[in-house]
Amino acid sequence: MMRKTIVAGNWKMNKTPSETVALVNELKPLVATETSDVVFCVPAICIPAAIEAAKGSNINIGAENMYYEESGAYTGEIAPNMLTDLGVKYVIIGHSERREYFAETDETVNKKVLKAFEHGITPIVCCGETLAQREQGVTIDFVRQQIKIAFQGVTADQAKTAVIAYEPIWAIGTGKVATTEQAQEVCKAIRECIAEVYDQATADAIRIQYGGSVSAASAPELFAQEDIDGGLVGGASLKPDFGKIVNYK
Ligand code: G3P
Repeated sequence: MMRKTIVAGNWKMNKTPSETVALVNELKPLVATETSDVVFCVPAICIPAAIEAAKGSNINIGAENMYYEESGAYTGEIAPNMLTDLGVKYVIIGHSERREYFAETDETVNKKVLKAFEHGITPIVCCGETLAQREQGVTIDFVRQQIKIAFQGVTADQAKTAVIAYEPIWAIGTGKVATTEQAQEVCKAIRECIAEVYDQATADAIRIQYGGSVSAASAPELFAQEDIDGGLVGGASLKPDFGKIVNYK
């Protein structure tokens, strides 16, 4: 099954709008590639600047979060049509940092995923276990549960276009990358879970990324795994190294 690799940068809470323009311009020539779909997920306030700077390039701009209501009294939140109005194509949903610091649950993740599809935005749905869960041997059960809830009510046709990011929490920003075997094992289990919930065709189509301390050095081996279709990259997405990651082949 040939799935196109998708490499997304998650800038997290880094870069002002003016710094965004400078970084997009710096990275633009470096991330030009046939190998991968390229997405820069940037802070909401930097999206207009990023879209303008990325014009005419292969870079797609994504958001790091959005709310699941259309509009109304939700101070500080960003509605889906505010993103589509700017030309946003992707949105990260349920990153572990949002789950940990902003009380996101599997249920709110599910609502956001449904809303993203309703607006034609591709969700990058995050899942992943803590170190304690890995040590207890419950990683696969836990991740399967996260995925099943996140995809409740999502049709097979929608799921085929989704992106799932498997990010073991203990590997995020720690420099401690999961071994290729660990990453492949869980990504394979996620694909099997999608096949159970939907069918094999959906499982074969959906793209699954690995995230957690991905670097130019670790990307080639990780992305070559059967069930790993690219990466969600934090720290290294803010550096010229990101060019090497998207051109990992
Ligand atoms: O979403 C990407 C992320 O959580 C991984 O961050 O800095 O470990 O690549 P980092």
